[in-house]
Amino acid sequence: MEKTFYLTTPIFYPNAKLHLGHAYTMTLADALVRYHRSAGEETYFLAGSDENTQKMVDAAAKAGVEPLVFLDGIVKNFMKLYGSLDISYDQFIRTTDKEVHWPGAQALWKKLMESGDLYKKEYEGLYCVGHEAFVTEKDLVDGKCPDHGTEPEHLKEENYFFRLSRYADVLKEKIESDELRVIPQSRKNEILSFIRGGLEDISFSRPRHRGWPEGLGVPVPGDDSQVMYVWCDALANYITALGFGRDDALYQKFWPANVHVLGKDILRFHAAIWPAMLLSAGLSLPKALLVHGFITSGGKKMSKTLGNVIDPEELIETYGADAVRYFLLRHISPFEDGDITRESFKEAYNANLANGVGNLVARVMKLAEEHMPGPVALVDADERLDHDFSNSVETLRFNDAMDLVFAKISRADEYMAEHAPFRLIKSEIAAEQESARKDIEYLVRQLANIAAHLAPALPHTAAVIMDAVRTNKKPENLFPRL
Ligand code: MSP
Repeated sequence: MEKTFYLTTPIFYPNAKLHLGHAYTMTLADALVRYHRSAGEETYFLAGSDENTQKMVDAAAKAGVEPLVFLDGIVKNFMKLYGSLDISYDQFIRTTDKEVHWPGAQALWKKLMESGDLYKKEYEGLYCVGHEAFVTEKDLVDGKCPDHGTEPEHLKEENYFFRLSRYADVLKEKIESDELRVIPQSRKNEILSFIRGGLEDISFSRPRHRGWPEGLGVPVPGDDSQVMYVWCDALANYITALGFGRDDALYQKFWPANVHVLGKDILRFHAAIWPAMLLSAGLSLPKALLVHGFITSGGKKMSKTLGNVIDPEELIETYGADAVRYFLLRHISPFEDGDITRESFKEAYNANLANGVGNLVARVMKLAEEHMPGPVALVDADERLDHDFSNSVETLRFNDAMDLVFAKISRADEYMAEHAPFRLIKSEIAAEQESARKDIEYLVRQLANIAAHLAPALPHTAAVIMDAVRTNKKPENLFPRL
């Protein structure tokens, strides 16, 4: 049977435009999928939006637009960004989709009910709309949520509760033993210490308030007065997208997911609540969670007040999608926070793309076009990936993989400088000319090899290089100096 690779990304809240942090998640995910796809695996790449939320209703009201109309506008922007970033997703799931998402979310709910893990209880507490979660007094600073700067709402209502507490021991065991891998180790330690502190049951539904928009929120099966808590319905997307509870051919083929990519802020939802739901329902657990850090700018969290927000669209417009992908994949570690400023971006662009790979390709292909009788006949070995490179990607250290590719580019530059084929080719001595031609051929093969290694990260650049090699023509200027 063909090897399959199922990768998911967090479904983002469609209450505002996506920023560079979200672009990071998507780019990292895309590069991983492209790698597995080109290795011949059957891949499935899921993206989507988390729509049944209070914060979206608030944002729509502020914009003076009906919630479902507001959603369509924002989702269009998500897709536009993914298009301009070359994100090769297979499906975009929307949690307001009654046909695609709701049947599976409800089927999962019924399984939790059958396991005796849902019960009704009167609840009084503080709800933070920013987190879309209940918080406690100890989470607050001066009565406000420190992450969102807002006062939580005081709620007293009847909810269904999920018996998360029941799963603490088994979750601990699955994570400790790496049956559910949490990557990197620091996040594994973090979630284990959270679980060791004990897990409390959590509210899993909200009463359908008067004024709550029609078509929003998955109805609780058998209880029309309640809609599912947004995180309960959102996490279910990873299986509803595959047709769970509906037409489950894709589910049979691709579940369990190979990797859920997520940011560190939503670790608990993915490493505690979601696996507990799956265990309760008797379904398999995902194999790995890749938990990345945050993108900061100038050492600070991007925020409008600080004026350090970088819009991915703006960077793509100036530098091109591959340049943005390059920076995110090479200069940000998937395991830690990473920083970007307009200056650091420009510097990296000029040093490594304009003067680096762009310049190398232009020089080698100019020589080849002028002095080679025709295209170099490539052999399989030219496009074979190095073991170290594959190993870095497979262990999710994508920035290390990129360093290896750029080391190849530097070596090719050095070869060019040392062997000077551009000088020897003009020599009157036939042997020198012949040796220059051999050097050019070698360098062209190096370009093909570099292109193969660049393909998951910089798909456009890789395609242009391969086309230049196959047609023996100097290509368009890949990365003009800016
Ligand atoms: N809707 C939930 C996710 C549900 S998944 C079943 C959500 N959405 S969100 O719009 O707030 O996006 C959170 C995700 O955005 C984080 O996990 C992370 O992937 C990404 N990021 C948000 N800000 C970020 C940075 N500054 N840097 C990197 N990624 C960050 O939570």
